[in-house]
Amino acid sequence: MAKKIVKVKIQNALRKIGLLPAAEYAQYLLRRWDLRKKNLAFVKAHPSFKLPPAYLAYDAYSAPDWNFYKSSGEGTADFLVGLIHRHLSDRKNVAVYEWGCGPGRVIRHLPAKLNTEDSVFGSDYNPETIAWCSKNLPEIQFSMNKLNPPLPYEDNKFDFAYCISVFTHLSAENGLMWAREIHRVLRPGGVFVLTTAGDFSFETDLVDEEKTEYKEKGIVTRGNFEEGKKMFLARHNPKYVREALLKDFEILEHKTAGFPFILQDYWLVKKRIDS
Ligand SMILES: C[S@@+](CC[C@H](N)C(=O)[O-])C[C@H]1O[C@@H](n2cnc3c(N)ncnc32)[C@H](O)[C@@H]1O
Repeated sequence: MAKKIVKVKIQNALRKIGLLPAAEYAQYLLRRWDLRKKNLAFVKAHPSFKLPPAYLAYDAYSAPDWNFYKSSGEGTADFLVGLIHRHLSDRKNVAVYEWGCGPGRVIRHLPAKLNTEDSVFGSDYNPETIAWCSKNLPEIQFSMNKLNPPLPYEDNKFDFAYCISVFTHLSAENGLMWAREIHRVLRPGGVFVLTTAGDFSFETDLVDEEKTEYKEKGIVTRGNFEEGKKMFLARHNPKYVREALLKDFEILEHKTAGFPFILQDYWLVKKRIDS
């Protein structure tokens, strides 16, 4: 853990002087080099599995590692489909939406795992990622959105919405606006699954001043980096998530660091029937 905090302190120093983007690029090249043999073996073993450009995968989850991209994507899709069956078994023609889908790690597996009458939608604010997804994953309807709401969808459109590690890269104001926007596009009784980085992150990667802010304000952000990118960081105290971010929803489940494959908090919430 001490090693992690040292890394955070170095990153924060680079962030302050505006050198974090350059350091990130160097890190990307290094990771690609490290993974080259494993990735070549993956391509040989899965010649027909379409892969996004490596820099888009790095942009989304730091590791342009195709084994992780495929296995974590499939595993997470299974987890989400399980939730859809558990919570929406009474609905037909289920409309599923991923906000901040990145280069399709999870969403690409959903059409094959859902019923044929169901429909799958995804959006992201990164035009390159949406261009790749639209071209390569034709069973899914993709759209672009901006860093700030609104989404290009009518009210009450979706039965199930989810986002994985998106609030973790937004400012407090923008996070609140997006929670309201997801609430708007969800049908009454619809389910929203999201992740935040909470108490596990408090224990492992916040420095002392940030810990104080986390306790007092409920949210800590690390900026001086483009908002929405993975090095713009937000950490959410669960109390803040309940009382501010998700105040319009009914909270059904929360597990600290409980989301599959990533050490982030898992939240499952519902739009109230009378909303
Ligand atoms: C950490 S990545 C996760 C990608 C994907 N959800 C996954 O789990 O594989 C965060 C994603 O959120 C997207 N993003 C950030 N801010 C956004 C916003 N305001 N609207 C939509 N997408 C956003 C980024 O472009 C990126 O694709």
